Amino acid sequence: MTSGADSVVSWAPGKLYIAGEYAVVEPGHQAVLVTVDRFITVRVTPCSPAGGNAGTISSRRYAAGCLPWRRRPQDGMAEAVEGDDDYVVSAIRVVEALVVQGGGRLRSFDLGIVSELDEADGRKLGLGSSAAVTVATVRAVAGLYSLSLDDLSVYKLAMLASDAVQPIGSGGDIAASAVTGWVSYTSPDRVWLRRVRQRAGALGAVSDLVGADWPGLSVRRLAAPSLRLQVGWTGAPSSSPALVAGVQAGSHGSDDAYAVFLRDSRDCLASLVTAIEDDDTARIMRQIERNRALLAGLSRISGRTIETAELTQLVEIAREHGAAAKSSGAGGGDCGIALCPTDTDLTALRAAWRAAGIRPLDLSVHAHGSPTDSPAKVAL
Ligand code: PMV
Ligand code: MG
Repeated sequence: MTSGADSVVSWAPGKLYIAGEYAVVEPGHQAVLVTVDRFITVRVTPCSPAGGNAGTISSRRYAAGCLPWRRRPQDGMAEAVEGDDDYVVSAIRVVEALVVQGGGRLRSFDLGIVSELDEADGRKLGLGSSAAVTVATVRAVAGLYSLSLDDLSVYKLAMLASDAVQPIGSGGDIAASAVTGWVSYTSPDRVWLRRVRQRAGALGAVSDLVGADWPGLSVRRLAAPSLRLQVGWTGAPSSSPALVAGVQAGSHGSDDAYAVFLRDSRDCLASLVTAIEDDDTARIMRQIERNRALLAGLSRISGRTIETAELTQLVEIAREHGAAAKSSGAGGGDCGIALCPTDTDLTALRAAWRAAGIRPLDLSVHAHGSPTDSPAKVAL
């Protein structure tokens, strides 16, 4: 975070799943993710609007480029002037609930968003822009009110904000974007979370929830292994909530097989995390292959395609070059990842992907606190 003149600038990186997809949607199950050096940057600038307490949110994502927000008469919380509240408004509201509970006074501000996570033409890469914008907004608004938050609190606030807008995700993307680097994540019991919130009223529980231990939750940075990450983009955008809902509905008639998937995935992720901690290349690669096979099994159980033909091609090419590879995230398009031993000919791998119509993305793993810990350019 930086502050200049009167404004506060924060950023959050995009992410990729390494392993544990779908299982991590179930409370207490684990995933491994990495964050990459593409960011969403949020700038918050105090303003004094003529009409009272309000402001604007500007982003290329909004058709009009700008979304006005105001304060609800009943409780003074932020809401979009038109349309549904999105991740940004929800994040403002959650952080401001904390401010109000601490006895602070709410302010008016304009909020500007710049994203490097989509293609220049707006096409989605699948790098987790909703999670990153939520995390960056939490950090920037907290900065405006001089709240100092550790990464776990940022995760919890962003998770509460995101859950109010899109309740289906595991929150792995949020955990990664808040903690950064190689991240091991075990998802919390969201039924518990919603119950606690409902009991306390819509916003009443925010400060208690930030201070509480969340059942099932674990978020932890892992030391980066020696394997090098390569990312290929299929060019086909995919909707994770739709796929997750489809896979869960499709698995419904096969409860036993789904339980076996969850058990095997738990075992695979535990082995993967130990292997990463030991920086054991061969063992890491074996667990990546195993996780791919488990996802293929889940695909069969549910009748939904996770690894598309393009992703299979991406994986096979990577394997021919000595890497371990799989789809990343919900699949159905978006990206695949390859973990490459240090002697892999990366130029040859990338050329082979290109020849097959797969775009190698220019991404490196990013962790905050590292020398390159900021977006290349903050054009706000
Ligand atoms: O496709 P992505 O990067 O949004 O990842 C989705 C991962 C799932 O485990 C399938 C869903 C989730 O929310 O964890
Ligand atoms: Mg995806």
